[in-house]
Amino acid sequence: MDRARITHIEETVTERGEQLIFPKQRILEGASSARWLRHNYQYYYEIFNARQLLAFNFLIEAIQEIPEEEYQNAFITVFSNSLEYNNMMTPYNYPHRKLHHLFNYHAMPLTTTPVENAVWGVGSKGAGTFTNCYRRYVRAKQYCRKPFDKYKGLGGAVQTVVTKQERISANLVSSFEELSETPRGAFLLCGGSAHLPSIPEHSVDFVITDPPYFDSIHYSELSNFFYVWLSCLIDHQYFAAKRVPTEQEAIVNKGMDKGEEDYQELLSSVFKESGRALKNDGKLIFTFHHTKWRAWWTMLTAIIESGFRVVDFFPVMSEYKVNPHIRNKQSLDMDLVLVCQKRGKPFESLSLPPEEVLKRAFDDLSSTVSENNDNKLFLYFMGELLRTASSIQDNEKVNYSWFAEALTHFDAFLANIDRSFPTRYEIPHIQQLRLLDADTLENSGYP
Ligand SMILES: C[S@@+](CC[C@H](N)C(=O)[O-])C[C@H]1O[C@@H](n2cnc3c(N)ncnc32)[C@H](O)[C@@H]1O
Repeated sequence: MDRARITHIEETVTERGEQLIFPKQRILEGASSARWLRHNYQYYYEIFNARQLLAFNFLIEAIQEIPEEEYQNAFITVFSNSLEYNNMMTPYNYPHRKLHHLFNYHAMPLTTTPVENAVWGVGSKGAGTFTNCYRRYVRAKQYCRKPFDKYKGLGGAVQTVVTKQERISANLVSSFEELSETPRGAFLLCGGSAHLPSIPEHSVDFVITDPPYFDSIHYSELSNFFYVWLSCLIDHQYFAAKRVPTEQEAIVNKGMDKGEEDYQELLSSVFKESGRALKNDGKLIFTFHHTKWRAWWTMLTAIIESGFRVVDFFPVMSEYKVNPHIRNKQSLDMDLVLVCQKRGKPFESLSLPPEEVLKRAFDDLSSTVSENNDNKLFLYFMGELLRTASSIQDNEKVNYSWFAEALTHFDAFLANIDRSFPTRYEIPHIQQLRLLDADTLENSGYP
């Protein structure tokens, strides 16, 4: 019976082919999509079966009949969310007995035993059904009207605290000048941040940003999965391109021929543009984390090249505490917030060789480091290292060997800690240090 229905659906999809709405774009080649391409998936629509494509078309027909643009867009958002749960790459999460959405691992996984949802669900059952995505959308909107935080109280019970008189909303304006006249104004621009002519020079106090983390997540590749559908449904210049534009994307993605140097250059251009927009005493603030030393090095180079230096930093819990990347591997569960200032004003130079500074830092540690705190210690150490290294004068240059040597000292320190009894440890206070004179940024075989 089911097989007969599936055959009927497949025939219907073949017959109605041209009238049906689904993306016809080829899958973009990249480090993440390589898996799909190797298994001969060539088009984005091939990630869905005929039953899903037909079900989507019933939904799309209904959505397109909604007269008010705002509501139509809301339902398009819901539809877009449901795509990641209704495709033939969704794995089953055995411990939680439910389906996982496609991007659980922030990658494009190849799932050989996928689970198929009923697209709009059966009652309220099913993870990521259209009906449940709609409920999630409503909850998100309610949250915007009445935002709250949750925390565990003394007895372990979860407490909810509503942020009084706060709401997440903005009045969109169409020029920078309008911003100052508009309460809760927001000027929304969509595109690369290396060129922002609509923002005047020396006009902003803070640039707060969240750049891509080197090679960690291949944003454009992943977002194409949604973009190709949205470009079928939304008549707007932002969806006019065939796929997400990648030229301006600051990322290390070998599959897209984007290397470390490209990443650093784009990042530097974005930071330079931030410097142009910032007032002289303004701050550039962003988060970063990575396990690779080269990633931090590239960030340091971008900071210095764009005319900034790190003046402060602090670690924060990263957004995805239960991210499978983090739970099972040696990656960081915290991000480092870096606060940068323009190099324009005179600042103090550094005075110690790195070995000496690191020795002092280690001496400062009161006792052993419990394993749970290694990440935090690493971030404090990295923060100090970046602050120190970016405080060079214009006639000095820092090289990768120096940077890697400092990190080797740190690794050796961690390796030699006596962990036989857990003790609270103090974060070292690292003195400023003089950088080795060297004018090459060679890769000397360090990670
Ligand atoms: C770490 S994510 C930021 C995520 C964001 N904070 C959020 O919660 O959705 C980095 C973002 O930077 C974007 N990006 C990459 N290169 C860019 C560029 N040159 N200009 C502006 N944005 C860029 C990526 O597309 C990605 O969306």
